[in-house]
Amino acid sequence: MGTVKIAVLASGGGSNLQALIDAQTDGAFNGEIALVVSNRKAAFALERAKKAGIATHYLSAKSFPTAAAFDDALLTVLAAHEIDFIVLAGYLKVLSTKVLQSYPNKIINIHPSLLPAFGGDGFYGMRVHHAVHQSGAKLSGATVHFVTEGIDAGPIILQKAIRLEPDWGPEDIQAAVLKLEHPLLVEAVKLYCENRLEVIDNKVLIQEF
Ligand code: GRF
Repeated sequence: MGTVKIAVLASGGGSNLQALIDAQTDGAFNGEIALVVSNRKAAFALERAKKAGIATHYLSAKSFPTAAAFDDALLTVLAAHEIDFIVLAGYLKVLSTKVLQSYPNKIINIHPSLLPAFGGDGFYGMRVHHAVHQSGAKLSGATVHFVTEGIDAGPIILQKAIRLEPDWGPEDIQAAVLKLEHPLLVEAVKLYCENRLEVIDNKVLIQEF
């Protein structure tokens, strides 16, 4: 594989994006973050991208008459930047079938729980950590997975767990999980860029070289 051209889609603060930008600067993976797309104009992720000299694009579904028109606009901007690989890093919009089919096994997402627990419709942001806290679970963690039709249901690439201390509230869980997320996402991007991920039977095999 030559240098992989990466688009990062983000709706929020973009700390995972920042981890990828920093890792790229350190030469941690053979890829180039060529584009950052957000569906929120005020997303700090866009500022982080601009500061790093990365092209940005604000694309809100609200500005388009139909969902199909939004999809076409997203696909057009991805194609214009010759994107090979898409990373969802806190992107709070579900991708359509058309977009998924345009990038088969070329889109990954980071989720702040140990999937399949605490994932799926409605499990995003602090809701995940509140649910974990409520459940009394002793462990939580982060998951990087390929994106498929089912929400948070695609083949799992990497996971990392942490033990939850009894006195932790949802915010403590969020902070601890976020710390795990950054290196995990960088590692997944590195593996993808080395062409080491193979999906067989809904399972991800990591090739050892
Ligand atoms: C992370 O917890 C990620 O797992 C989830 O959204 C959050 C984004 O955080 N999908 P940030 O914007 O990268 O700081």
